[in-house]
Amino acid sequence: MIIAIDGPAASGKGTLAKRLAEHLGFHCLDTGLLYRAVARDVAWLGFRLDDTWAAVAVARGLDPRELEDPDLRGTAAGDAASIVARIPEVRAALLAYQRDFARRPPGAVLDGRDIGTVVCPGADVKIFVTATPEVRARRRFAEFEARGAGVAYETVLSDILVRDARDAGRPNAPMMVAPDAMLLETSNLSIEAAFDAAVGLIKRKISHPGRS
Ligand code: DC
Repeated sequence: MIIAIDGPAASGKGTLAKRLAEHLGFHCLDTGLLYRAVARDVAWLGFRLDDTWAAVAVARGLDPRELEDPDLRGTAAGDAASIVARIPEVRAALLAYQRDFARRPPGAVLDGRDIGTVVCPGADVKIFVTATPEVRARRRFAEFEARGAGVAYETVLSDILVRDARDAGRPNAPMMVAPDAMLLETSNLSIEAAFDAAVGLIKRKISHPGRS
């Protein structure tokens, strides 16, 4: 069974995907980490992030088992990932790994931007997680404050808007809601409530597979 979770930056899709996978005993892949790792290695080698040749070479040689680097989780890594993710050949190089992962028994939850549309268009369940940019910025800002990072809320919001525009505006595999995806709007939901709502959507989908 394959569960596809897509959504914009800081929508809470990663937390949700992990919790669902734990609950169901499934494997979980945060596909954003693949793009983040490509961007990290391209920069480390001294190339520009939009250098197609370098980014494709790195993506083809990426070892997906090496995604545990805590630096990959930061905002800068996310912005950098969004730049290499625009290169179609980079996306193509990462596709087979994601598709193989999705087929792992007994099931897998993958989260990203194009899981329900490109990576696993035949996924059994597709959920698109949303929240307003302001709510997502407030959540991210609270995380920064808790860590003592002095970043202004306005900066966090404008970074989120830039990333949304880049991810949704690229011609190849843009972030979009798959026609058969179920929307989960989490602006007014706690993590717990979002999890309960997602479990409800999955149960509904499994009992009425034709409906979205
Ligand atoms: O989900 P994330 O914030 O870790 O993703 C970082 C960037 O990687 C995101 O801004 C765009 C890119 N990405 C993508 O293009 N396709 C995916 N399936 C996952 C991430």
